[in-house]
Amino acid sequence: MTDETRGESRPGTRARAGWTREQARRIERTDDTVAPIVYPPATDQVPEVHIWDTWFLRERDGTLASVDGYRVCFSLTAPSDLLPGKRHDVATIRCFYSEDGRTWHNAGPVFEAALGQRQWAGSALYDDDGSVYLYYTAAGEEGSEDLTYTQRIVGASGGRIDTDDGFDLSGPWTHHELLTPDGDRYEREEQSRGMIYTFRDPWFFEDPATGETWLLFEANTPVPEGSDACGGDAALQEFNGSVGLARSPTGDPLEWELEDPLLDAVGVNQELERPHVVYRDGLYYLFVSSHLHTFAPGLDGFDALYGFVAEELRGEYVPLNDSGLVATNPANAPFQSYSWMAFPHGEEVLVQSFFNYYDFDGETLDEIAHLPESEQMRRFGGSLGPTLRLDVEGSRTRILGALGHWHIPLDGEELPPTDRELIRRGNRADTGSYGARTGTE
Ligand code: FRU
Repeated sequence: MTDETRGESRPGTRARAGWTREQARRIERTDDTVAPIVYPPATDQVPEVHIWDTWFLRERDGTLASVDGYRVCFSLTAPSDLLPGKRHDVATIRCFYSEDGRTWHNAGPVFEAALGQRQWAGSALYDDDGSVYLYYTAAGEEGSEDLTYTQRIVGASGGRIDTDDGFDLSGPWTHHELLTPDGDRYEREEQSRGMIYTFRDPWFFEDPATGETWLLFEANTPVPEGSDACGGDAALQEFNGSVGLARSPTGDPLEWELEDPLLDAVGVNQELERPHVVYRDGLYYLFVSSHLHTFAPGLDGFDALYGFVAEELRGEYVPLNDSGLVATNPANAPFQSYSWMAFPHGEEVLVQSFFNYYDFDGETLDEIAHLPESEQMRRFGGSLGPTLRLDVEGSRTRILGALGHWHIPLDGEELPPTDRELIRRGNRADTGSYGARTGTE
C-alpha cells in the first residue's frame, strides 16, 4: 500500500486493531459501495428449503475446491414452509453441489446427529488427502428442553466425497468441540450485557505467506463494568463485537489454541459476523457482515459487508474506504442481502450473499415481524443471491456489477464485461445507473 492508500489504523480494546466510532461515523452509501437491486430469480433452484449463510468447500490455500469438476457449498437451511424469522431456531447444514457453477443440487443434510440444538455458520476444508472437515457453531445445549443460546465452535472430521456415481458426501463424521470462550479475551454468555451474544462462525485460514494455520470467528470482547472504555459510558460498552482468532500449532485441523482477537469494535458494533480473509497482493483483507441494528447509539450503519486491510494477518487493520463499508444494499431495499462472503477470482474479488427480505424498505428488520405471515413469506428470498464483483486496490474497493443468482464461476472462467467496462468502451449508453439495472449480468 502506498501512503496515499494506507488510511489509518487505531488500536482496539483487547485487539491490536480496532474499528473506531470516528471511522464508523464516515459510513455512507456511495456509487462504489451500493449493490444493484436484486429481483427474485425466475425459478427458485432449491424451493424445498430456505437457504441463508453459505460457505464453499475450500482447499488449504483458500481456493474454492473443484472436486472432480464439482463446486461444493454448505448452507444453513430450514424447511421453506417455516416462517423465515424462525429459521435460526432449527438451522440445519445442508450440502449443495454444481457442475457448472450456476445450477445447484441439494445433497441433503450433512449430519445425522451434530452437536448443539441447532447448527449455525462455519467453513469447510477439503484437505490435501481428500478428507472433508466441516467447522460449525453448535448453538444451544443438546438435552435442554428450552431453546438456549450458548455457542461452541465445533469441527467435524471424517467426511469423504465420492463422485463415481454422481455426487455423494458422507461420513461417518466425528464431532469435536474445539473452542469455548475463555472469559478473558472472549466473553462468555453469562458475562454478556449486550443485546446479542456471539461466539460462532469459525473460518479456516492457512496463511499463504507464513504457512501458519488459523481459525477466525465472531466473538465479543469482555468490557467489565466500571471500565473506562468508551469514556466509561456503559450504553456504548455493551456494543463489543470482535473478530476472534485461534491458532493450530501443528496445522492439525482439529487442534486449536485461542489467541488475542484480530480486531474489535467496542463502542461501535455488537456483531462482526462471519469474519474471513482474502489474501491479495501481499495484503490481508478482513471482511465481516454486520447489521444496521447492531451499531452503537450515535452511529448509523447499514446491513452491509465491512472490510479492513493490513500487511500481516495480525496486523494494524485499516478500514476499507475510510469507514469500513464495502458493499451494502440500496436505500430502497435495505435488507435485500446479508451474510456476504468474499473470495478471489482472477483480477476481481467476488462476493456471495443470500437473498434476504426484498420489496421491503422498513426502518429495521424488526418491522418484518409486524407484517402478516403471508407477506413475511412472500418477501423472503431464502436462496443465494447474485454474486457481486469487486475491484480491490489498496484500501479502496469498488462494486463493478453482479453475476446471476447462485453464479459461482468455475476456475479460470472468464467473466462478462461489466456495464462499467462497456460504458468505457463506448458499447453501452451511460444511463448513470449501471447498478440500478438488475441484479443479474
Ligand atoms: C449471520 C448469522 C451467523 C449465524 C447465523 C445463524 O447471518 O447471524 O452469525 O451463524 O446467522 O442463523
